[in-house]
Amino acid sequence: MRYYIFILVILALTFNACNKKNQDATSGDTPVSDEFTPKGGDANLEDINDLDLPVSYDDMSYFSEASELAIEGDVDVLAFGSCNKHDLPQPLWGPILATKPDAWIWLGDAVYGDSPERDVLKAKFDAQNENIGYQKLKKMSHVLGTWDDHDYGKNDGTKLFEGKEVAKDVFLEFLEVPDNHPTRKRDGIYQAYTMGDGEKKVKIILLDTRTFRDKVSRDDQKVYIPDPEADILGEAQWKWLAGELKNNDAAITIIANGTQVISRFHRFEKWGNYPKSRKRLFKMIKTFCPSGAILISGDRHHAEFSRVNIPETKHPLYEFTSSGMTHTRKFPRPEVNKFRVGKKVDKLNFGVIRINWNANPVKVTMEIKGEGNKVLESCEFDVVK
Ligand SMILES: [Fe+2]
Repeated sequence: MRYYIFILVILALTFNACNKKNQDATSGDTPVSDEFTPKGGDANLEDINDLDLPVSYDDMSYFSEASELAIEGDVDVLAFGSCNKHDLPQPLWGPILATKPDAWIWLGDAVYGDSPERDVLKAKFDAQNENIGYQKLKKMSHVLGTWDDHDYGKNDGTKLFEGKEVAKDVFLEFLEVPDNHPTRKRDGIYQAYTMGDGEKKVKIILLDTRTFRDKVSRDDQKVYIPDPEADILGEAQWKWLAGELKNNDAAITIIANGTQVISRFHRFEKWGNYPKSRKRLFKMIKTFCPSGAILISGDRHHAEFSRVNIPETKHPLYEFTSSGMTHTRKFPRPEVNKFRVGKKVDKLNFGVIRINWNANPVKVTMEIKGEGNKVLESCEFDVVK
């Protein structure tokens, strides 16, 4: 009997330790359940209907001028990733190099800086720059990026983070963004680029979802409570985004940020905690119908595809979430995502977007790739105009 009690105690202790590790591996910090069911009806109807906004799109004062920068070269393959600890093994650079991306996009947590101190942050970015695989990638591809919380300097950090100016300097230096870049002259780090010309133009919009992010409260179980009034982009960035989407003749438009947009049935950080902002983004996409629009995001320590149908766009709007270049959950749990297409991937991963310009209509293939350059999950859509 004593033996069995001993075994039970050991099992209970092990379970606790595992749970603690799971908490550490995510951007939240309390277990209970990963799922969170917001009040409301059917996901798709509620998310896509009623996209009214208090702004008229005929009001030209609403738009900032587009400030996109052209990058040389065509683009057939884009790759991106997030959640990368500079001091853990980084086994994905080999597969990323083998994929030969025309551009690499950091989508948050390029390092776990987690400090308002310039020296601490810089040392971690410098360590990342020492990585041989990453050095090779920088020689082969254009490197772009935006940040999430840890490379911003604070776990779940918001506009209230006191280190954001320091973090901006250090992050833009890491990305080798030149001193005369438009993003240096305004608050935040949002940027837009185009690659390719004419029928093969791709626009990459990098949103900053940290610098202007309102703080949203959590309940006593540490579950975020969606705030109907909270904003995630800030008014200047909204106007800039409207300008970038309105003045856009690209065949493919990538809208990138660190935080998941479509999935909203989990308890962690998400655009779903900012329902007004989420609707506003959908409304902009519905209004301007950017050709070949794809959302890409990170943060979650797993990868997945989500999809909504906005009737005005000619193809479904996909969100491609890729996260966990150096770490994912050791003990992955199921998570409801009513918008998910295919399976949730819990292995180390990076994202690949392939554009087949020769197909008619142009075809986009999205691949979640892992160690050994294996395709772990994929989906595709036709860019119907
Ligand atoms: Fe992360």
